[in-house]
Parts: sequence; C-alpha cells; structure tokens
Amino acid sequence: MSTNNQSWGSRVGLILAMAGNAVGLGNFLRFPVQAVQNGGGAFIIPYLVCFLLMGIPMLFIEWSVGRFGGKFGNHSTPYILDSMAKRPIWKYIGVFGIFTNIAVVAYYTYIESWTFMYVVHSVIGTFTGMGAAEISSFFDNYVTLSGSDLGIPMLPVIIYVLVMAVNIYILSAGLGGIEKVAKIGMPILVLFGVVLAIRGWTMGSDFASAEFPEANAWDAINFLWTPQYSSLLDPKVWLAAAGQIFFTLSVGTGAIQCYASYVKENEDIALNSVTAGFTNETVEIVLGSAIVIPIAAGFLGMDWVMENAGFGMAFQTMPYLFQQWGEVFGMVAGVCWFGLLFFAGITSSLAMGTPWMGFMQDEFGWGKVKGAVSFGIISLIMGLPTVLFFKYGYFDEYDYWGGTVSLVIFALLETILFTWIFGMKRGWEEITRGADIRVPGAYKWIIKYITPTLLFLVLMGALFTPAGNDWNGAISNLLDGQLYTLDHGSLISKFSHTDLKAQILLNPENTEMLEKKMFFASMARTQLVLLFLLIVGIVWYSHQKRKSALL
Ligand code: PHE
Repeated sequence: MSTNNQSWGSRVGLILAMAGNAVGLGNFLRFPVQAVQNGGGAFIIPYLVCFLLMGIPMLFIEWSVGRFGGKFGNHSTPYILDSMAKRPIWKYIGVFGIFTNIAVVAYYTYIESWTFMYVVHSVIGTFTGMGAAEISSFFDNYVTLSGSDLGIPMLPVIIYVLVMAVNIYILSAGLGGIEKVAKIGMPILVLFGVVLAIRGWTMGSDFASAEFPEANAWDAINFLWTPQYSSLLDPKVWLAAAGQIFFTLSVGTGAIQCYASYVKENEDIALNSVTAGFTNETVEIVLGSAIVIPIAAGFLGMDWVMENAGFGMAFQTMPYLFQQWGEVFGMVAGVCWFGLLFFAGITSSLAMGTPWMGFMQDEFGWGKVKGAVSFGIISLIMGLPTVLFFKYGYFDEYDYWGGTVSLVIFALLETILFTWIFGMKRGWEEITRGADIRVPGAYKWIIKYITPTLLFLVLMGALFTPAGNDWNGAISNLLDGQLYTLDHGSLISKFSHTDLKAQILLNPENTEMLEKKMFFASMARTQLVLLFLLIVGIVWYSHQKRKSALL
C-alpha cells in the first residue's frame, strides 16, 4: 500500500537532520530565559537530571518506536503506535504526533519570519543610529502590525507567508531537501554561535557604561555556572527544567518518530540517538547560554537581565547592543545572531512538516508536493490568526497547549505503551538491535519505572501548581486541614481562565482588553480542538480504507 520508500542518504545526514530537528529557537530563545528565571545555577542541576532521566530515555523510546513503525511502512505516530498494540485507541492517541507539529509550526514559523526580517534589517542597517527605546518599539510595532515597517503595510503577514513558502518548497523535495538544509545550516549556525559566544565571553566589564557601571559579562557566567543546591527541592524549578528538556529535544512531539521511521531495520539507533541528543545539549548549554545573557550582562548588568529576562531580549535589546560594537562588527553580530536563529528555526520547522506528509503518503499515496502544499495550507489556516491577533495572546495559547501540555501527555502515554504494553523486553531488543554502543543496562530500569513516574509527576505538578508556586506552604496548609489554592499558572486555572478573570478584578480599567484576550484565547483553543478532530477524522477514514483493502 505504501509507496513511501525514502530513506536517509547517509549517517552524517541523519544525525545532522535529527540534531537540526532538535536544535531550534528553543535552544537560543527559550533556554536562556528559563535558566535566568529559575535561578541560573539553581536550574542547571534539575535540568541535567531531567536530561538523563527523561530526555535520553525518551530519545531511546522514540527512535526505536519510529524505526519499528518504519519496518511496516508507517511513518507517523497514528499507525506506528497502532503497530505496537492491539487496542484501536492507540492510533487516535497517535494523532498527537501530527497535531503537535502543526500547532507548533503555526507560531514557530512566525518567530522564524522575525529572524529572517531582522537579518535583512541588520544588513541594510535599519538599526544604525537608533536609540534603545526606538529599537525596542520597532519590534512592538512589528508584532502588533501597527508600524508600516519599510513602508509596506502588513509586512509581517507577507514575510510570514513567505517563510512558510520557503519551508514548503524545501519539504517538497522530501528527506533529501531536509538533509541538505541540515548539512548547510548546522555548521553555519555553530560558526555564527561561536563568533558571538567568544565576543560575549571576552567582554568582561569593557562595555560597562556610566549608566550601568557594574555591568560585567562574567557575572552572567558565574550566575549560570555556580551550582545552587537549594532549588533541588523546588518543584517549580523541576517543572521548568522538564518542560525545557521536552521542547528542546523535540520529544513528545512525534517529529523524532517520523525521522526515525526512515532508518533501516538493523541500522544503529542507540549511538545515533545519543549523538543527536548530546549535540543538542552542547549547543544549548554551551552556545545557548553564552550569547544573550552574557552580552546583555556585559552592557546592562546582571540585575537588569534578571528583571528583563524574556523574549524581548533577543529582538528588542540585542540589535541595540550590537550597535555599540561599531558599525561593521555591529552588522556582523546582527547577521550572526539572527542568521543563527533562522537556521536553528528552519531545520526544526521542516521536521514539523514530516509527520503529516508521511501520513498522507502512507495512507493516501500523496506525493511530496501534494503533501507539502497541503501541510502549508493547514499551517497557514492555523497560523495566520497567531500573526493577526498576536497581541491578544493567540500565540501564547498555542505555545501552552500545543507546545507544552500536549508534549507531556503524549510522552507519558507513549512510555506506558512502550514499557507496559509493547513490553520492556521487546522494547529493549528494539533499542539495542544494531547498536554501535553498549547501552547501560540501568536504562532498562530507568525507562520502565523512573521515566513514567517523573512524567506523571510533571503532569500532576502542572495541573495542580499551588498559589504562588509555594509547594511547601500549600502542602502544610493541606495537612492543617486548610484549602489548597491553585496558582493562576496551573493548568486547571489556565483552562478556566481564572488568571484573566483575576486580572479583571484587579484592573477594572483594563476590562475591555482582558475580555478580548479571553475571547481570543477561546478562539485559539477552538482552532486547536478542531485541528485535533480533523486529524482524528482523517485517521478514522484511513482506517476504513485499510479495512476495506483487506477484504
Ligand atoms: N526542538 C525544537 C526547538 O528547540 C522545537 C521543535 C518542536 C522541533 C517540535 C520539532 C518539533 O526549538
């Protein structure tokens, strides 16, 4: 039935493509912010533990699950999971592995389009001579579509569609196209990153201004690399660390299984998966932490960084700081930074297209072009509202439900399937068949007991985050027979909009804006649910087709 007989061109190509899948905006935009907000050196230990006890096990599981499915001609999670279990429900659980990719690509490509635009602005010198406030509001105007950047109205929308089109074009060349982009993009990304990291690390206090006399880039390095053990008992830090590990490794998304389904039956996955995983971690920990934070700390001081850590640092502050290095190096730095982000982004957004394409090819014989174009159309339908209604939080809603919650849910279900239903014995055989390394036997045990337990705890922690993130207080309250109050950031409160409702009570003058936000959040969720149901419908239909083909 399946005409999908693509495979990876070479081992290097496979590893680079997988590393490109993992290395993304998460490494350079999300990681530094998470690290600063969760106490720097206090974040790193939980982060590394999560990598070893959840990240690596999930990589083993997803690579082997993917290769296993590929053997039967299945290239996306609905039928990959179906081939591992008897109950029909698993193919619907596998819907997550297509859904998440489309939900994420919708807003991810928007950020990618900013990075593209900022490369252009760095080259044409748009920021030269602009003040800090001006550069910062330049970004605000862009994302709220209120500035006519370069004199073209709706430019952000046009660039978004254009960047999506570039993705579609590359995807329509199949795995070969992805492999080529990874082979070019990954080395450039690392080169650009190294240039900036060296500049960042060697800044010291040379650029401290009269306004920020204390500024010193080395404070950032000390802050990040002095371990602090106090946080080890703080579930909030653990939740953040686990969330980061998921997003950065692309586990729980379905993208890895799809790539791995093109790996041949007896080819190694143990060494390959660990190599791709460690590449991602090296890029994240070494380069991801050595650019924005030290550079910002070198100019503005660590106190400023702690107060302002967020998305804005990358787009609102960096272009201004680069200017302080003089016109020529300022431009070079701008191109390196936004170019690096662009390559990191595109090698990931391409990965997000493959599960849908693989599915449509397997089940309906859709060729690469048809698969890629249909993916583009659905992604635009999902994504345009995130562009148009960015300021009302449409984007954040996708990121939370599609880019955070569903990863953990899917990973948990998948782990249960792998260890308890498919069976750890067969699972272990899958992981170690053709292996070029000896996988430590401890992982058999970790995968079976530790990983699912941790995943379960992470999910519970997110569902029931207590008020103010104060776990100790909440638990002792509970033991004293008092009420347990949820935090506005908990999954349950978010779901019922408790956070926005509380804000309306606090700031009645903002009621209109907050009500709009609530409206758009509901719209965004509706769109996500409809997307999920659409894929369920397609899976159901394909199943009917498979059944009648058997008769
Ligand atoms: N891992 C990518 C990053 O760090 C994001 C990603 C999510 C990639 C889902 C593929 C699928 O940015």
